[in-house]
Formats: sequence, structure tokens, C-alpha cells
Amino acid sequence: MAKELALIGCGNMGSAIAKGVVSSGLVAPRDLVVADASEASQKRLAAELGCAGTCDNVEAVSGAKMVLIAVKPQYLDDAVSAFAHAVDEGAIVVSIAAGVSLERLEGLLGAGRKIVRVMPNLAATVLAAMSSLSPNANVSEDETAQVKRIFDALGRAEVVPEHLIDAVIAASGSSPAYVCVFIEALADAAVAEGMPRAQAYTFAEQAVLGTAKYLLETGTHPAVLKDMVSSPAGTTIEAVAALERGGMRAAVIDAARAAAAKNRAM
Ligand SMILES: NC(=O)c1ccc[n+]([C@@H]2O[C@H](COP(=O)([O-])OP(=O)(O)OC[C@H]3O[C@@H](n4cnc5c(N)ncnc54)[C@H](OP(=O)(O)O)[C@@H]3O)[C@@H](O)[C@H]2O)c1
Repeated sequence: MAKELALIGCGNMGSAIAKGVVSSGLVAPRDLVVADASEASQKRLAAELGCAGTCDNVEAVSGAKMVLIAVKPQYLDDAVSAFAHAVDEGAIVVSIAAGVSLERLEGLLGAGRKIVRVMPNLAATVLAAMSSLSPNANVSEDETAQVKRIFDALGRAEVVPEHLIDAVIAASGSSPAYVCVFIEALADAAVAEGMPRAQAYTFAEQAVLGTAKYLLETGTHPAVLKDMVSSPAGTTIEAVAALERGGMRAAVIDAARAAAAKNRAM
């Protein structure tokens, strides 16, 4: 079953990645094999994508040029130990497991392996993830670019040294949760002003999406956009002043650094 890409773990993230690489045309279904401990999970994904599926990780990784590991961190050691011997010498092994270092992966896979640690976020499921890529010393620039193409197809990806992983967790790994707290608060305000709840979420969510899209697409600095929309004596500057009185910046910095600190301690 030698394939270009073997995916180990067909859960939320594994399925999103497999669907993303196939829908973007980066990997043809005939060049992909998906594997999962659960027969139902691998069969469902294989049928949806028209690719091969198996419950046998050794069979999946044998001959594969790239192996992408998407199992939960607590199952990773056992899973990788069981198939490491079957991974081709020159294969690139990509792990998205949170909190699992390159050093630990090297210990499981053996010395000299090409390994890339990737930290995507939940938005991979809607092809809008922000992912960090940290290759080990055995991965060439071309090989890193090959992995980056996959994660670019799932949103955006950037190469960062592994020691910045805590910063990645703070800014993009954990931040969907704190952005949701902000969206909830915006919607609560709209509800307090009389808007129906469902409509309030639509207005708040689209406003956050549109702001981020504007900044990314125009390259505008957030402070410039804030100044642009804050007219003298207008409504927006009243809200900005209230946020500053409430200590929003400090609260967000504290929250994101708490996530980074927790990741460091794990
Ligand atoms: N979800 C996120 O937002 C997110 C963000 C960044 C990184 N990650 C990382 O992505 C990885 C996957 O997370 P997830 O949310 O996709 O988890 P998930 O939905 O639980 O998917 C993991 C899949 O792996 C399967 N599995 C377990 N042991 C296996 C084995 N030995 N061989 C093959 N398949 C096996 C599981 O099957 P069973 O269900 O039968 O156990 C499950 O289908 C984790 O390491 C996580 O840290 C997740």
C-alpha cells in the first residue's frame, strides 16, 4: 500500500487535514491512506475521500513518503512505538500532537528521522487555521516547504523555531476560546439592547471575521484601523475608552500568557 501520504488518526483534526489536502488538489485520493484504531472512523473518511483506509498503522506507513500523526497526545507514544520500525528512512514524519516535543518524537522514531512538529488550530476544519511548523535538523528547506504547502491549504502556516511554541499557543493555538468569550460578550450587549440572541451572534461573529480579514488582506496595523473608525466625539471612541477603563489589553495579555505558561509546564 505504498502511498505519498499516510494519515494516522481520523478524528477532528486528521479528517480536516485529509479533506483539505484532497480538496486543494495537493494529494490525489489514490496517493492517500487514512488509518484509525476505529474501523468505522477510517472507513467513513476513506469512503468520503475515495482513498485507501486501514486499521493497521504499520500497513499505512510502509512506503509512505510522508506520515502525518493526528492522534491524541496520550495515545501517541504507544501508537508511534508500534509503527516506527515500518516508517521509510527518508519519510517526513509530521506530528500535530499538542505538547509533544521534537525531542520526544525523535526518541520514539529513532535518530536521524525527518520530523516536523506542527501546531494548527481548530479553524483547520473550515480551512482557516493558523499553523506553526517546527522542523528538526534533518528536514531540508524543500521538505519544510512541502509540509508548509499542506498547512497553507488549511489556512495559513509559518515556520517558527520550536522554542516559540508557547507563543504560538498564546496567539493562535488557544485563542479561538478567548475570541469566543469576546464574541459572546458582544452578542450579550446586542441582546441587552433588544436584538434577538441568534441575530446578535451573527452580527458579532461577522464583525470579528470581517475585521481580521480586513487586517490580513490590506496589511493595515490594528491601531490604524481603530483610529480610522473612531470619529471625534463618536460612538466608537466611547467604547474604546470603556475597554481601556476595563483593562482589556492587560486582561488579554494575561490570558494569553497564562496559556503559554501552562503549555510550558505540561
Ligand atoms: N482539536 C484541536 O483543536 C487541535 C488543535 C491543535 C492540535 N491538535 C492535536 O491534534 C491531535 C488530534 O486531535 P483531535 O481533536 O483530532 O482528536 P480526536 O478527534 O480524538 O482524533 C484522534 C483519532 O485518533 C484515533 N486513534 C487513537 N489511537 C490511535 C492509534 N493508535 N492509531 C490510529 N488512530 C488512533 C482515535 O480513534 P478513537 O476515537 O477510536 O480513539 C481518533 O479517531 C491531538 O494530538 C491534538 O493535540 C488538536
